[in-house]
Amino acid sequence: MAVIKILPHPEYCPEGKQLEVPAGTSICEALLDNNIKIEHACDMSCACTTCHVIVREGFNSLNAAEEEEEDLLDRAWGLEPQSRLSCQAIVAQKDLVVEIPKYSINHAKENH
Ligand code: FES
Repeated sequence: MAVIKILPHPEYCPEGKQLEVPAGTSICEALLDNNIKIEHACDMSCACTTCHVIVREGFNSLNAAEEEEEDLLDRAWGLEPQSRLSCQAIVAQKDLVVEIPKYSINHAKENH
């Protein structure tokens, strides 16, 4: 079990939230299970970039990103060194702090 602290996001979780997540769950699944409806356009198959999150704490406890994920992340809005595709980032035992970026690649296209 790990605790994921979700930082406030105006649309998905304005107050922020604390989730208890069993090890082996992806961050994306954890968010969806807890009613935080992050986009996941490719249905968690590592083929889009809409599930991008930034792992502010605990990044190194996650499984390493595969090359495919890294390539997709290059297209993410607001990419940071601690960015992950949440559907590919598997929670271990360590607590995490996760930020959902303000925009996803879909929003970015609509707005600019
Ligand atoms: S849901 Fe598409 S890459 Fe995660």
